[in-house]
Amino acid sequence: MKKAIVTGHTRGLGAAIAAELQSRGIAVLGLARGRSPLAGIEQLEVDLADPAALEAWVAGPALRDFLAGADAVYLVNNAGVVTPVGQLASQDPAAVLQAVMLNVGAPLALAAAFVQAAPDAVRRIVHVSSGAGRNAYPGWAVYCATKAALDHHARAVQVDGDPRVLAVSLAPGVIDTDMQAAIRATPEGNFPLRERFVEMKDSGGLTSPEDCARNLVDYLLAAGFGAEAVDDLRN
Ligand SMILES: NC(=O)c1ccc[n+]([C@@H]2O[C@H](COP(=O)([O-])OP(=O)(O)OC[C@H]3O[C@@H](n4cnc5c(N)ncnc54)[C@H](OP(=O)(O)O)[C@@H]3O)[C@@H](O)[C@H]2O)c1
Repeated sequence: MKKAIVTGHTRGLGAAIAAELQSRGIAVLGLARGRSPLAGIEQLEVDLADPAALEAWVAGPALRDFLAGADAVYLVNNAGVVTPVGQLASQDPAAVLQAVMLNVGAPLALAAAFVQAAPDAVRRIVHVSSGAGRNAYPGWAVYCATKAALDHHARAVQVDGDPRVLAVSLAPGVIDTDMQAAIRATPEGNFPLRERFVEMKDSGGLTSPEDCARNLVDYLLAAGFGAEAVDDLRN
């Protein structure tokens, strides 16, 4: 039996990943602040940027109970924010802390809790990263730094060398979601590359969440998963 945990399953890429996993007969537990209308999955309403809330949940039995009985388990660390966008002079320190907790703290803590909660299963972890973790973009210092942290976490987990615990930090491409709409709505002064993203949308250059999720789940379930700790779905 296969079971998967998907963070940020209520919208965008995460919603499509949850639906794709479910369509392949994999039991899904979604973690987000809101709820998904997708029937037949388990859901937990949790603010993953709130360390106390996440800590309380992982300390309880819910994670272990959900994963019980599975021989292969998956964690898709998908929830993330691009904000705060802008140079240091304009960044709200509270928003910086929120982004670091959601984009890095929660994925790393969940990865550890997930591995410990299913000691007898094959465990695969995908961090949903970004090209921004590999290239520096003006206005995206926090986003770039948090995604680079996920990449390096996967590299270090790989050198830990447990063949039953595999982690990959995967850039998914540019996807037509609420996050992209927010990027296009960013004032040019905060994000000088805004126009590039507007043109990408206008020229039909964005991937649909469904197509991206199909490729990501193929990647997650493939025999060679883990060969590269840091990868790009467009490769
Ligand atoms: N879209 C792109 O072009 C693109 C490109 C590269 C990488 N990515 C990455 O792909 C991932 C998904 O992006 P997306 O475009 O699908 O984003 P999105 O449309 O903004 O959706 C974000 C998801 O994360 C959840 N979330 C946000 N804040 C949360 C919090 N504090 N606690 C729990 N859940 C929270 C949201 O659910 P609730 O609001 O219900 O909490 C929602 O389900 C992100 O990690 C992003 O960095 C996206």
